[in-house]
Amino acid sequence: MSITVVKGEIMMKMIPINLPQIGELEIEEVTKVLKSCILTDRYGNGPMVKKFEGAFAKFVRTKHAVAVNSGTASLHMSLLAAGVTWGDEVIVPSFTFVATAEAVALTGAKPVFVDIDPNTYNIDPEKIEEAITKKTKVILPVDLYGLSADISAMNDIAQNHDLTIIEDAAQAQGAMYKNKPSGCLANIACWSFYASKNMTTGEGGMVTTNSDELDEKLRSIRTHGEKKEYNSFILGHNYRMPEIEAAIGNVQLTRIPIFLEKRRTNAELMTEELKDITELQLPTEPLGYKHGWYLYTVRLRSASATIRNEIMRKLREQGIGVAVYYSTPIHLMPYYRQFVGFHLPETEKAAQQVFSLPIHPSVTVNQIKYIAASIINTLE
Ligand SMILES: Cc1ncc(COP(=O)(O)O)c(C=O)c1O
Repeated sequence: MSITVVKGEIMMKMIPINLPQIGELEIEEVTKVLKSCILTDRYGNGPMVKKFEGAFAKFVRTKHAVAVNSGTASLHMSLLAAGVTWGDEVIVPSFTFVATAEAVALTGAKPVFVDIDPNTYNIDPEKIEEAITKKTKVILPVDLYGLSADISAMNDIAQNHDLTIIEDAAQAQGAMYKNKPSGCLANIACWSFYASKNMTTGEGGMVTTNSDELDEKLRSIRTHGEKKEYNSFILGHNYRMPEIEAAIGNVQLTRIPIFLEKRRTNAELMTEELKDITELQLPTEPLGYKHGWYLYTVRLRSASATIRNEIMRKLREQGIGVAVYYSTPIHLMPYYRQFVGFHLPETEKAAQQVFSLPIHPSVTVNQIKYIAASIINTLE
């Protein structure tokens, strides 16, 4: 199988933080779809979508997988399927991509932000209980950077309070938790296939679940709340994945083991090269977890955002596409300041100190060594 990468202009000037791994096979499969003239899955008759759903469910080891047209759609649809509505509350981290809380706000519910564990950057399970009220419906943890959230630690809390766990696994394709694929222990998991992710369909997403009832509801919401055509039973949307995207997804799913292996090799080499730099907190892979290595994120332990940004500027000058995920926690963004009253010291500190390094499958061993050496020199 060809793993030739179609390189963007940026590749020549800078080692990008991520790069879609698109080869000849993806191009061939998309061409086949175009020639077939079956472009949509409007009535559940899209062969590529059907195949992709089956293959992804197998990959994540869940009973069902429902393909959608973005990770954001997968989150919104899952919250609707879980019955979240106006006046409800959903527990989320603030240290994540905005879509996690945005999907909550779209349902009319209130995102209730909970602080992170400073070692994993994921929501701290010990802080969840105190955020629960009578209005809480869902706990929505995120597998940040590709490291699974501690779902088992949330299961008891969820059961005691009759809550649904919706895992935002947008960044975690290929990650493992307690010997199982990330996502398969939650009631629902949401995935993104945005261009930068461990596998991509350009834009796209998936919802996985073991519940027959939720699967049926999700499929209905995906197509205007219909069970059969032109007859809406519940409020829905058009969140369908196009056949072209599913065709790319089918090929990417066969290649993801190679992508993951290369990400892991690169991450391990980066750790080896940087392990003696005491100013840097390197990413952790706790016992029982297998990181998906979507992002290799380091932390300047005692730096301010100004110093971190200055170091990043110098690294970019050396052709290294470093990036911050995420410099503004969601609760501090202008729109989300309406949800007042959150004290999240670990989130706010991490947002000032972290930055991520390129380790995607196209980054070579020499480039990893170059990136590490440049960091060491710049810090000196
Ligand atoms: C944690 C997280 N949640 C949700 C999303 C939203 O996914 P998408 O961009 O496919 O809508 C993303 C991706 O960008 C993400 O990283």
